Amino acid sequence: MEYLLNPFKPGAGRIPPELAGRAQLVAEFRQMLFQARETGEGDRPWILTGLRGVGKTVLLNQLGREATELKLMFVKVEASASAPLANSLAKELHLALRRVLSTSDKAKKIWHASARALRSFQLRVDPTGAYSFGVTVEPQLGVADSGDLATDLQELLERIGLAAREENTVLLLAVDELQEATAPDLASLNMALHNLGQSISPVPVLFVGAGLPSLPAVLADATSYAERLYDYRRIGLLDETATTTALVVPVQSNGAEWSEGALNEAVDATGGYPYFIQAYGSYIWAARATNLISLDDVEIGVESARAEVDRGLYQSRWERSSPTQQAFMAAMALDAGDPSAMSELVVRLGKKSTTDISVNRRDLIRSGLIYMPQRGSVAFTVPGMHDFITRQEA
Ligand SMILES: Nc1ncnc2c1ncn2[C@@H]1O[C@H](COP(=O)(O)OP(=O)(O)O)[C@@H](O)[C@H]1O
Ligand SMILES: [Mg+2]
Repeated sequence: MEYLLNPFKPGAGRIPPELAGRAQLVAEFRQMLFQARETGEGDRPWILTGLRGVGKTVLLNQLGREATELKLMFVKVEASASAPLANSLAKELHLALRRVLSTSDKAKKIWHASARALRSFQLRVDPTGAYSFGVTVEPQLGVADSGDLATDLQELLERIGLAAREENTVLLLAVDELQEATAPDLASLNMALHNLGQSISPVPVLFVGAGLPSLPAVLADATSYAERLYDYRRIGLLDETATTTALVVPVQSNGAEWSEGALNEAVDATGGYPYFIQAYGSYIWAARATNLISLDDVEIGVESARAEVDRGLYQSRWERSSPTQQAFMAAMALDAGDPSAMSELVVRLGKKSTTDISVNRRDLIRSGLIYMPQRGSVAFTVPGMHDFITRQEA
């Protein structure tokens, strides 16, 4: 058999060979970018939410590429519980400003005030950090250095936005894993974005955050108006048509074909879960006996992919949980992937009241393994976790 390249890209954040099922959302976003550039005004911030492995990171990066294609500024950070949001923002905004400052003398003039505001901001949040602009930039006293993150972030983004408007460009600011940020950081972010949006002519700064399904509740806990502030977009599993496209297009462009039965079986096996589409696709490709993928190939491929998915997706999450957390999740697994009522878990775990299991719930939410789809119920953030747990116990 001639040597063909495996098109599939299993693994977090890897650009899929075909970004299936997201065209409408991407087109809507591109329109917003275009509008912001033409009018010089910002728009409502977006929040993308979804389970692990549905493609939020990949989508966020795609939105960034759309911005870059329109010659707009794209700045992305990943929130984490260990680093303050302000530090990561200061670092990445600095790199972006450094880049635009170096493009021309005219740009130096236009972006000078932004660079000074950033210098003030940075001296406050990260005084020891190394931030060189290649030219001397004095901090602008009294701007973005009050010590109140909400005010400082707003002032900083305003300065950058004013320069962006003058340059006919837009700043797209993206934060991945936003649910990881601390509550005070989220409150400050909400407030800064809220205030920017209140202006008569909001500066052309667009924001997109991405995170787990718990994110809307986390943001609403930080400030009550978060619910109205953001445009929430749920990133779900792919439907059958999109799943088929995600499997067929890469295979065909790399010189192979699916037999009909094989394709149906593969679509079914993935359940429309993007992480599985890439992992199963990759193993099926490797298992194929000829360039016409058969049902046998699919069965062998899916079987070997499962072992890898177990290691990559489930095993480490399971093993870093304590025995009582594991018991909690095993009780959840009985609901076969549907949300579990806390009242029911109490019974299954032989406890008296939900307070007896609320510490486990809190810790599992904190470590990103479960979330609360509604008050009084919990669900796994990773699709298929229940199945893995059931197989552990067998
Ligand atoms: N729309 C899509 N079509 C096909 N594969 C996708 C799509 N979105 C994501 N993937 C694949 O799914 C996997 C998980 O994507 P990722 O962006 O890391 O998910 P998340 O950030 O939601 O956890 C990656 O292998 C990626 O290539
Ligand atoms: Mg991600």
